[in-house]
Amino acid sequence: MTTVQGTSVAALKEEDRALQREIDSAQERIQSLTKAVALRDELLSIAGHELRNPMHELALHLTLAQKLAERYDATDVIERLQRARSSLDRFVEHATVLLDATRMQTSEVRLSPSDLDLAQLVQELVASKTDEATFYGTLLAARTPASLAFRCDRVAIERVLSNLILNAFKHASSGQVVVELNQPADRVAELIVRDDGCGISELHRQRMFNKFEQLARPESARAGLGLGLWIVRRLVEAHGGTVAIDSAPDAGTVFTVRIAELPQSKAL
Ligand SMILES: Nc1ncnc2c1ncn2[C@@H]1O[C@H](COP(=O)(O)OP(=O)(O)OP(=O)(O)O)[C@@H](O)[C@H]1O
Ligand SMILES: [Mg+2]
Repeated sequence: MTTVQGTSVAALKEEDRALQREIDSAQERIQSLTKAVALRDELLSIAGHELRNPMHELALHLTLAQKLAERYDATDVIERLQRARSSLDRFVEHATVLLDATRMQTSEVRLSPSDLDLAQLVQELVASKTDEATFYGTLLAARTPASLAFRCDRVAIERVLSNLILNAFKHASSGQVVVELNQPADRVAELIVRDDGCGISELHRQRMFNKFEQLARPESARAGLGLGLWIVRRLVEAHGGTVAIDSAPDAGTVFTVRIAELPQSKAL
């Protein structure tokens, strides 16, 4: 019998075949997992879309009902309708996060640069969140220059700020949330979301931008999907920017987003 350092050639061939079988089965498994992930992303994307769209109609009916209740001065009904509207807004926000995440998972982030007044965008966005701030028992304020001409993707910046503001409401349980806008250098904008809440430990800061990463207990009523910060980072990075966190337990958290002005057209 032919032997190579004590092992027969036949045995080596058998080992080789066994290894090949393992490789084939691993490849089959990868293929089927890739298909399952693609199917999951497609289903999540459909769910996000289909859950969100009918809600716009519901929002319209609630607004009309509120106007009617105001006409009849029905204070109790107005209050109930306002609560229903806040719940609906939070539901739409969750569905939007789901939709954003699945779109970014399945395709590259495409930006639509437009010339806008970033100060006005921040002020308007903060104004649109005051009802939600009241719901969470938080004061929300904006500190911006009178105006700041800047070329960026409006929707992306709104999504970044919305996620950071909502996180401060939901997770920090802070008394005050401040959104700041500065211009630290020519063609660079700095967006800061500052809370005075529970803060985030060093260990958690390293993990929190991962997908589905949640530091709060998932059974908490305020828990979402753990996708918001992952979306924030992808949108900021698509702008060639950075997100920094300064925080300590019980000393509040400061998220600082820095973005450079986009060229006329940038698809990443
Ligand atoms: N301002 C903050 N203060 C304290 N903890 C925070 C703050 N922002 C985020 N976190 C923690 O980081 C985790 C991840 O945040 P992320 O926005 O990715 O997910 P989420 O808010 O739980 O869900 P989603 O955004 O998908 O609705 C949160 O679950 C929370 O534990
Ligand atoms: Mg979030």
